[in-house]
This record gives sequence, C-alpha cells and structure tokens, in this order.
Amino acid sequence: MPISSKLQAPSLKILGIETSCDETSVAILDYSERGTRYAVRLPHHETATQIPIHRRYGGVVPEVAARTHVAELVSLLERAGIFGRGTARRAPTSFDAIAVTRGPGLATALRVGVEGARTLAMLTGKPIVGVNHLEGHLASAWLVPENRRHWEFPILALLVSGGHSELVLMRDFCKYKVVGRTRDDAAGEAFDKTAKLLGLPYPGGPEMSKQALTGNSQAFDLPRPMLKDKGLDMSFSGLKTAVRVLADKEFQTSISKLQEALPDLCASIQAAITDVLVEKTVRAAKFHHPKAIIMVGGVSANGELQKKMALRVKAELPDIRLLKPPSGFYTDNAAMIAAAGLWRLRLGKIDAWKKMDAEPELDL
Ligand code: KG4
Ligand code: ZN
Repeated sequence: MPISSKLQAPSLKILGIETSCDETSVAILDYSERGTRYAVRLPHHETATQIPIHRRYGGVVPEVAARTHVAELVSLLERAGIFGRGTARRAPTSFDAIAVTRGPGLATALRVGVEGARTLAMLTGKPIVGVNHLEGHLASAWLVPENRRHWEFPILALLVSGGHSELVLMRDFCKYKVVGRTRDDAAGEAFDKTAKLLGLPYPGGPEMSKQALTGNSQAFDLPRPMLKDKGLDMSFSGLKTAVRVLADKEFQTSISKLQEALPDLCASIQAAITDVLVEKTVRAAKFHHPKAIIMVGGVSANGELQKKMALRVKAELPDIRLLKPPSGFYTDNAAMIAAAGLWRLRLGKIDAWKKMDAEPELDL
C-alpha cells in the first residue's frame, strides 16, 4: 500500500541517524514513485556496534555509549559520503531530508544523534524529522519488498526489544494504539537479566538462544506470568526472581553443575518468555482482527519465538500473514529510522531544527 502524501515529491533521499542505545548507525534510503508504484532502495547502510565495549561492564554504560557515538557518528557520516573525503574530495552524497531518533532511549546517547542531525539541518537547510525509535522498529518490517506488497492496515505489531514489550495496533502510517504492554521488565530485559544471573555475557538474548539450542525446555518449571490473565498486558519480573531463587538454591555451590545445566536452564527460560509473547499476540489478533502481524525489535530475532509464532498463527489465524524485518534489521539500525522518517515526511510532519531535542521518555 503506498503512503498517501501531502508532499508533492515523487522521490526522496533520506539520511537516517540512530544513536539511542549501543549502536551508532547511518543509512541513506532512496524512495521513488511513479503513478501508484513505488520503490525503496537502501544505497548505504552502516552500523557500528558498541556491544564488545559494554560487554566488559555487563551492560550498557550511558556515558561510555555517548562518547563512543560521538567518535563513530562522524566517521559513519563520512563513509556515507555526506562530507567530501581526503584531498580528492568526492562530491558529497545528496540527500533531501534528515531523519533522526529523538527518543526513547538513553539521554546522553540520543543527544549525540540529535545534535549531529540538527547541525546538518542548519548547515544544509534540509528538512529534519525526529523519529520515535519504536516507530522505527515498526518500520523495519516495511523494509522488505514482499512485506510492502501485503502491507494492509490494521496491522498488529509485537514490538519486543531491550527496553520495550508492546502490542501495537497500527491503524495507518503514523496512527498507532498500544493495546498491551509489559507492566515491569521488557522481554529483552528478561533475557539479559536472567542471562547475567547465569554468568552469560551481555547482551543475554542471543547468548541464551545459542545455549538453548541443545537444551530441554521442560527441564525447569518456570512461571509464565499473566499467561492466564485475559488482558493483553505482560509481566516478566517474576521470571527473573524465579531464576534467581533457582540459581541460588541449586547452583550456588557448584559452578560445574551450573555449566552442565546451562543449556536446559536457557531453554526453559526462553520457553517461558516466548510462550507469554506468543499467547498474548495470538489473543490480541483474535480480538483486534488485523490483516497482518509483524514481529519487530531485537527479541524478535529469537528463533524459538519465530518458530512458535509461525506455528500458532498458521494453526489458529490462517488468514493473517506473519511479516518479519529483513534478517540483520531486528536490532537497532538507521535504515528503519529513515523508513519511519519517510512515513512522517510524506504526511508533512516536519520538525524545526531549532526546537528539536532528545526525549528519553518518548511514548509511541
Ligand atoms: O531492538 P534492540 O536492538 O534494542 C532496543 O531497542 O532495546 O534490542 C536489543 C535486545 C536485547 O535485550 C537483546 O538481548 C535482545 O534484543 N535480543 C535477543 C536476541 N537478539 C537480540 N533476545 C532473544 N533472542 C535473540 N536472538
Ligand atoms: Zn531498539
């Protein structure tokens, strides 16, 4: 479905900038339309991950993240061809607008991207649009050409990342209603915190899913909070407590016993988290009757979650399509920010660079 437009611009090249947490990312997204047909290309996209830096501390250190974004952002912009390079200065890459994540996220980290984008807007006179990071995750699924062919509203999104677990009903581009959310920890946080309790490195989600590959998911009986509750809200903090109690009781005195049980523990934790996410999504779909379901955010990269969701949707919601972002675009990236920026620009939602500021607590 094409995006209706208030702007009479048949083509737009958008520079996307993302610095909300521990990935610095820059993308150029090229949108062009002819009649009712349109094409989206990604001629440039590069992400510099800070995971190896924060791993030393067992989690993201905001001040370190901000300093690393400062160092990375300029080189990424340079490699995107935004500035001329070296003595034989290349003609700068042209772009028509700038899309930058303005929240939610870490205040110091967000500010690096926002200030960089504001400076570029001031110097070039190009329009700037502040993007909600969560809207960026929603747009990540739209980056797949096949998904765009089936992009019919309403769409139900399971948005699961390190800081958010939400069920979002998308009624149109830029029109959302949160119909369910976690009451405490996010799903990614549940993965990261329980993994840390078991001595796994940051970020815990991918490590846990690797360990779980050879484990038995029924080895440990862990709680599935609010699974039986009729509403669409979720809760994961009880799971973290249950894992802490279990680890203290069974494994405190023996590291080798813990090592031996690690695959089973990881498979059991992963099963508890994914059971809740799948159940709540299916319940939301039965209630809100979307045309498609999208799974986005870092946790949606989880293989077990993808497998379980596909089976349930096929069995119980055969008329609903399940759409995913391109692999490698589940976690934070600037391509999704450029795509959400495009949605906003097409609807005429342009911001003033002078007034724009980071908003760490921004809601969808
Ligand atoms: O979307 P994202 O990159 O950042 C936020 O916006 O928070 O998500 C990061 C989260 C982390 O909690 C990480 O552990 C989790 O996504 N994650 C996974 C997997 N890959 C990343 N969780 C479970 N399984 C995975 N394969
Ligand atoms: Zn994210």
